[in-house]
Amino acid sequence: MIPTEEMGLLKKKIFEAENLQSNLTEWKEQLFVYKFALDEINTKLNILNEEYQHIHNHNPIEHMKSRIKSPASIVKKLKRKGLDITIGHALEHIHDIAGVRITCSFISDIYTLFEAISRQDDIEVIRVKDYIKQPKANGYKSLHLIVEIPVFLSNHVKKVKVEIQIRTIAMDFWASLEHKIYYKFDKEIPDELRQELKMAAEAAHDLDEKMKRIRDEVDLIN
Ligand code: GTP
Ligand code: MG
Repeated sequence: MIPTEEMGLLKKKIFEAENLQSNLTEWKEQLFVYKFALDEINTKLNILNEEYQHIHNHNPIEHMKSRIKSPASIVKKLKRKGLDITIGHALEHIHDIAGVRITCSFISDIYTLFEAISRQDDIEVIRVKDYIKQPKANGYKSLHLIVEIPVFLSNHVKKVKVEIQIRTIAMDFWASLEHKIYYKFDKEIPDELRQELKMAAEAAHDLDEKMKRIRDEVDLIN
């Protein structure tokens, strides 16, 4: 015979496990649509890229990478924001569950894409953060958009948020190194290194400007 106390504990554990299982199923179902939203955005971007190549003989997109945030990262972010761990909170407060990062050759490509995305009737641009015009204190540059796109399911339409980060190759090079350093030093980068990174961000920007000048010269010759 299992003592009553232990029995109670066991029942509680079973209840929690069942609860977790049904929560997990709900999370999976809700997060599923983010993949469709990414598929749609990727198609739209590929169309823009090919059309631009056709008309201007130039690809505004160098490369593109998309990802869905893992449930573990979503939970971590909800905790960081001081919110209860519910799928409702995730859908409402986490805007980067679906993310696309686009790398361009030139700064002008970034704004070309931004304008083309904004013009599409089915995309609603919810938030724009222009860290190119106003870089972060550490030197970080990129154009960040949060857009909402309708996903047509069998019996309803769901509006899904996607974070789009657009940057040049030079900005991307800087950001990926900074990201590694940031985590290596557990988010406390020593001052000297911080200064060096800031200078590297300026050098990356100078390179972007220089490449643009060279391209313009070549354009003039053609
Ligand atoms: P998050 O909670 O981090 O998503 O921040 P936020 O909602 O204030 O959004 P923001 O647009 O400022 O930044 C979103 C994303 O941009 C981050 O998750 C990173 O991928 C990238 N990012 C922002 N700042 C930096 C930075 O200083 N360095 C690097 N390497 N990436 C950054
Ligand atoms: Mg993020």
